[in-house]
Order: sequence, then C-alpha cells, then structure tokens
Amino acid sequence: MKKLDMKTTDKTITNVEQIAQLFPNVVSEGKVDFDLLKQMLSDEIVESDDERYRLDWVGKKASLLKVNTAIDKTLRPCKEESVDFDNTENLYIEGDNFEVLKLLQESYLNKVKMIYIDPPYNTGKDFVYSDNFTQSKADFEDEIGLRDEDDNKLFKNTDSNGRFHSDWLSMMYERLLVSRDLLKDDGVIFISIDDNEVHNLRKLCDEVFGESNFVGAFIWKNKHGGGGDSPFIVAENENILVFSKSITKLEHFFGKYAPDYEKLFRYKDERGKYYLDRLDKKGIDSNRPNLIYPIECPDGTLKDISPAIWRLSKEELKRRKALNNIEFKKDKNEDWQIYTKTYLYDENGIKRKVKPRAILKQEIVGFTQNGNKEVIKLFNKKLFDNPKPISLINYFLDIVLTDKNDLVLDFFSGSATTAHAVMQLNSEDGGNRKHIMVQLPELTDEKSEAYKTGYKSIPEIGKERIRRAGKKILEDNEASKEPKDLSKLDIGFRVLKIDSSNMKDVYYHPNELSQSLYKEEDAENNIKEDRTELDLLFQVMLDLGVELSLKINPKVVDGTTIYILENSELVACMSDDISIEVIEEIKKIAPYQVVLKDSCFKEDKDKINAVESLSKVSTVSVI
Ligand SMILES: C[S@@+](CC[C@H](N)C(=O)[O-])C[C@H]1O[C@@H](n2cnc3c(N)ncnc32)[C@H](O)[C@@H]1O
Repeated sequence: MKKLDMKTTDKTITNVEQIAQLFPNVVSEGKVDFDLLKQMLSDEIVESDDERYRLDWVGKKASLLKVNTAIDKTLRPCKEESVDFDNTENLYIEGDNFEVLKLLQESYLNKVKMIYIDPPYNTGKDFVYSDNFTQSKADFEDEIGLRDEDDNKLFKNTDSNGRFHSDWLSMMYERLLVSRDLLKDDGVIFISIDDNEVHNLRKLCDEVFGESNFVGAFIWKNKHGGGGDSPFIVAENENILVFSKSITKLEHFFGKYAPDYEKLFRYKDERGKYYLDRLDKKGIDSNRPNLIYPIECPDGTLKDISPAIWRLSKEELKRRKALNNIEFKKDKNEDWQIYTKTYLYDENGIKRKVKPRAILKQEIVGFTQNGNKEVIKLFNKKLFDNPKPISLINYFLDIVLTDKNDLVLDFFSGSATTAHAVMQLNSEDGGNRKHIMVQLPELTDEKSEAYKTGYKSIPEIGKERIRRAGKKILEDNEASKEPKDLSKLDIGFRVLKIDSSNMKDVYYHPNELSQSLYKEEDAENNIKEDRTELDLLFQVMLDLGVELSLKINPKVVDGTTIYILENSELVACMSDDISIEVIEEIKKIAPYQVVLKDSCFKEDKDKINAVESLSKVSTVSVI
C-alpha cells in the first residue's frame, strides 16, 4: 500500500534517473557531472569552449527548471457550468495552461493525436500572461491593472520591455516542452503565428521537437484586401507551423482522402490500383553520382541515363524491383522507358492520402472575416477579436485525425473554435473525436462588448460558445432535408478549474510542522474543509494518471458513497468511516486500483485487515 503524492512528479529526479541508466558513471549522489556527460557524448576531447549553434535567450535555463519542478495544484470539477457532466468525454479547463499541462502529464501522457494552438503573437499589445515576476502591487496596478479571478498577476508584454522576445520565448518554451509529452508518437502540433515571432518559434520548435520532426509550414492568406496602413509591405498572411512528435510514425497518416486523387491511380494489377512516374529526371546533377548508372532492361540491353539522372539510387531500385514496383515499357520509338509504380495502398496496406499544399486555399479554409462572422452568428454580437474560422481548423483536423475517436487539445482556446470544429466534423461523419480546451481566466475589458453583455472573462465566452454551437448543430441538422441521427453526438463538456491542492500542508510535510504550529485535528483531517469528495476524486485521478473524462458511477453501500470509474479502472471512497460491507463490495468489483482515506478506520487493525484483503485483487493506495 502506498500513500499517494497528490502532486505532479519531480521530472528532474526522473530525468537524472534516466541519464544514470544510460551513463551510470556521470551520476553520483543524484547529481550529473555535465563535463563528464559531454565527454561521454563526444568522440574527441571536449574543450570548455561554449560556442555553438543554438537559440538562447534570457531565462531559458530558468524555464527548464520550471518545467521540471513539481506543482501541488489540482483541477476541481464544476458540475454547474458543465454540459452533460456524467456522459461527456470533452473537457474545458480553466487555468494557466502551463500549470494545466503539467497536471495533465500523467493522465494524458502519449494520448493526444493533435494539438492546435493559436498563442498570443507577441505584437506588443496582445501578450498577457501570468508569471512569478516580482513586481510591487503598485507597479503592477500602474502597468495594466489586470488580474485574473485568483488575483494572479497578468502582464502585458510591450516592446519597451527589455526582455520582450525572451519573455515570449520562455512562455512558449515551457508550454511546448510539457505539451510534447502529451502527444502520441504519431501526434502532430499545429501552431498559428505571424511575422512577429515566426522566426523564433521555428527555432524554438526545432529544439523542442527536433529539427527532423518539422512537418512543414502552411501559409494562410487571412485577409481579403485592407491592411493598407502597414508601413511597407501589407501583411496579409499568417503561418501555421507543423511539427510531429516522431516523423517516422507519421509517414502514412498525414494528408487527406480525396476521391479526385483516387482517379490518378489509373492502372491496376494483382496488388491493386497504381499510377506511374518516369524514373528519369531531366538535368544532370554532378553532385549525385549515385543517381547516374546504367539499368538492365527486360531484353538484356542496358539503358544509360545521360543527359539526366534516375530518381532512385541503385540500391533503392533493387529494393523496389523486388517489390514489383518498377515497370518497363517500350515507347513508340521502341525505346525502353522505366517507371516507378505508386499503389493506392502502400506496402503496409495503408491507403494513400493527398499531400496538402503549403499555400492554403482561401475558398476552403476561409479568412479572418469568417471566424468573426461565425461567433457573431451565435451571439448576435462581436464578443471576441478575430477567432479562427471553423473551416481552417476543420481542414487541419481532417489532415491528421485518422481515427474517429482521436483526441484534440487546444491550450490557447480563446472562443473555443477548436471545440466547435471538432463537434462539427463529428456531426458530419458520425465520428467521436474528443476535445480538451484550456483557457486562462483572463478578464474581459470593461469597455468591451463582451463585458457589457455579461461575459466577464474569456472562459465564460468559450463555454457559452460550445453550448450554443452544440445546440445549433443539432437544430440545423433537424431543419435539414435529410437529418442524420445525431443522438450520439457529444456536445457536452466537463468544466474543471485549477486550484490549490485539496490537501493541507500537513499532508506534504507531516514531520516538518513545528510543535507550535501542529494542530491535532490537521493531522487527522489533512483535507481542506471547502473541498468535496468529487474534488478529491479528480485529484486522485490526476495522481494515478487516469483520464479525466472517464464515466463516474457513484454507488451507496451501507450509507457510504463509493465512486466506481468506467472499466473498473479505479474505485475510490473518501469517507472517514468505512464498514466491512463497503470493503466486500469493492472486492467484488475487483478494480484495477482502490483509493481510501488513511483515516477511514477507527482501529488500525481494521485498516490492516481491509488493505490486506483488498490487495489480493487490487492495488491499494491511501490519501
Ligand atoms: C489568439 S487567442 C486564441 C483564439 C482562438 N484560436 C479562437 O479561435 O478563438 C489566444 C488565447 O490564449 C489565451 N491565453 C493567453 N495566455 C494563456 C495562458 N497562459 N494559459 C491559457 N490561455 C492563455 C488568451 O486569453 C486568448 O484567449
């Protein structure tokens, strides 16, 4: 039986452990000898010269430290603001996304297929974030007078800030590093950005995801005229950088299925439909001597390549020949022509997709105006500046989500366009893709239309948009000529809000409290008074790495509520007084894990017996 940590793991410790496994000699007393480690990774003597190609900025190391440090916060469910709390698999999380992503580390490790983010572009006006900068209250009030509901400091990053780019880079670095862990191996991240920081973001992502995992960059012409007040060149485009977690895993899964594309595969043999590409490529490239060699044709003659090059090396040609992927044909001059075959279904039996092109077509993805109109249509008012068009996000979802149950994350969710796009796509093709939206409880400006209409914070707008969008999708479907059965469409979401841990300090430092501070009742009741059993259950789920969307079935046994999670993944009982009947009931369920309160038995011997008996069928933990 173990006592749950009830906080995220300290990544420094696990990172050092991993290094120690690879290079035991460089770790002693839990500390890494970096000079030794450098030497271990080099095939020559390492000089202490620190010059090398890298992106550096003020605060980079501090960011890494922040990423690795444990936090003892939690996510508290808010049933009243949720829609269909008991059945939905979508989440809406309010809080600073860095902390939220850290909290999700265990429950959503390697689970997210696609991340889309539209972070602040660092234009000198837009960047509002909370951080631990030390600043007097007066300075802070003077600066912008903004704060979130929990009185967290929110700063506007103006270009008079001496660390203008550095602060933005630190903010992004921390979030991208943590979010990468949540991506599946074949997962992909799409990041919207404009010219202000695209150069820095590209390099930052090269570092976080690895240069080789750069998938490409889309160019989105987001305007339709206008913008003539730009000093020199009228900016009318944004970029969307795309990185994968592991490019080799992405190979077969990126792109779109399109009936028009299938028409290209006009030949057919026993392996299926295919098209042909000529093996020769015009133009001599003396830098590629491996692509210049004679090829033996079916009648034994040799075909020379001058003045051109082959598209494949000798070795690759041999491999393709063995797979029957090379075709020889005589042209009208009776000369041999050599072709490569591309089958509709690749070597792994996976159907090919059309590669998307870098310059997005406005008639498909829309432009900024569309995003604005879509929100105005739902609210009859302009409540949010420049949300992305649904069609833009839909285009990206369609490229990446091969499985109709895939999970999508947007941790700068704003007006929740991504949630809207996911619901819309599901309504069109009967899919069950799930979404997680994260949004800072940033307050709306008192002069704004949103504030005057009653939306005092961005999450209020985001949540209401999802409610209205879900309803509208159902209504539009009913009103259509051929309504679909959308009874299974998930238009709900569970609202969770970040907060301090449910546990009192005594839980984390039972031995550190001095005698004078020590209160008998604190030791017995280590849970904060204002926290509910459901609050505790969610912190336990985070701690044990259980998905927060699992269905929760409460059951009353002998007057005590036990919470049974979907698939019997976990049974938790937060009562202070548990009877033998409760233990017997849990045993019958035989869940994977059981969590009880340490103080749930009056007598120690009862606890020992109960834990011993439960341990035969489940892993037992206490809080
Ligand atoms: C450009 S907007 C995103 C708009 C969104 N794509 C849409 O279509 O509505 C960026 C959002 O990120 C939010 N944000 C900024 N810093 C954040 C943080 N640290 N954690 C969570 N959200 C944050 C802002 O409040 C803002 O709503």
